[in-house]
Amino acid sequence: MNIVDIINKKRVKEELTKEELEYAFNGYLNNYVKDYQMASLLMAICINGMSERETFDLVDIFIKSGDTLDLSFLPGIKVDKHSTGGIGDKITLIIGPIVASCGVVVPKMSGRGLGYTGGTIDKLESIKGFNVSLSEDEFLNALKKVGFAVTGQTSNLCPLDKVIYALRDVTGTTSSIPLIATSIMAKKIAGGADKILIDIKCGKGALITNLEEAKKLKTLMEKIGNFYNRETICEISDMNTPLGTNIGNSLEVLEAIEVLKGKTGPLTDLAIKIASEMISLSKEIPLNEAKSLVLKSLQEGLAYKKFQEFVENQGGDLNSLEISKHKEIIKSPKKGKVISINALNIGKLSCSLGAGRINKEDKIDYGVGIVLNKLVGDYVEVNDDLFTLYKKDNNKINLNLEDYYEIK
Ligand code: URA
Repeated sequence: MNIVDIINKKRVKEELTKEELEYAFNGYLNNYVKDYQMASLLMAICINGMSERETFDLVDIFIKSGDTLDLSFLPGIKVDKHSTGGIGDKITLIIGPIVASCGVVVPKMSGRGLGYTGGTIDKLESIKGFNVSLSEDEFLNALKKVGFAVTGQTSNLCPLDKVIYALRDVTGTTSSIPLIATSIMAKKIAGGADKILIDIKCGKGALITNLEEAKKLKTLMEKIGNFYNRETICEISDMNTPLGTNIGNSLEVLEAIEVLKGKTGPLTDLAIKIASEMISLSKEIPLNEAKSLVLKSLQEGLAYKKFQEFVENQGGDLNSLEISKHKEIIKSPKKGKVISINALNIGKLSCSLGAGRINKEDKIDYGVGIVLNKLVGDYVEVNDDLFTLYKKDNNKINLNLEDYYEIK
């Protein structure tokens, strides 16, 4: 077999056999297929797609590239939640502790930032000392002890997703439906959860920008989940506007903490909804009963306590979170109402400040990012603060305000 023949076959829209997929993907993992060859194949897949059979085969190849966890020794039904990624989406950091504080075990295998969307692993790494590469034993022990643990893909757990994900991030190959479905479902199945809840983000600031594509992704992931006997529920939610007020790694952890301590708003509402669904799925109780448990956990501070326990257990020091000292405030040139905030452009701006990667080897600056001082629906006066940039240095950023905020 020859990798160039495989790339060419996909280029002319032919279906690849399982053996060809194995040759290409396992070859990349084992370093005999090179970065530039895999990048080319991924782009051909992005453009020409994959059949359902090819996608199912690729999921199998990803799962078998590492171990599959057996969580049956832990009590209850284990539910994992995953987001396809959006701008300011720090929901995992909020719902994990809430759900675990209600007695439901949450095993979570996450990824880094992808395209302009942030990733849970990068966010957690903004906490000094936090270990995102748990061994299988460490992951299982953390689940037993705390009830909530997050690990990235490792050399044992879904290693193929670890390497392909990093390459997709920097080669414009993030938005392919079969590649997203493979990446997410292989991680979820290898991670050992009994039930899977997926928040498909759809809109300007998401990998999937239109509803038809989001529906296709939903059907595909639900089919894969059912094939592996994991009940899988996919919901589609809006990602035209950034989620919450903070974008950037440390800033997002800080906002998650604010929500766990009682901050209200659309981000909190979405977190309560998803956490209630997870608890309802796990405890097999009605949604309103699950919601009462969630609200009680938040009101009594149990969720925040669980978050502290989770961070400490994975070696993190919450006092270490740092925000850049170099601030620039963007003011409103006019009076009016905020009609929209462009999630994609905010995500790009945050990346250009240093919160995301352009090249594989780029180091993230955890302290940079953006805080939205005004949200959609707010009224503004001339000179009111619209948003604040946290930058690497004091160099002024030239931007066209209309690319970010629509005010009428
Ligand atoms: N999240 C993942 O884990 N993988 C993707 O491809 C997209 C979002």
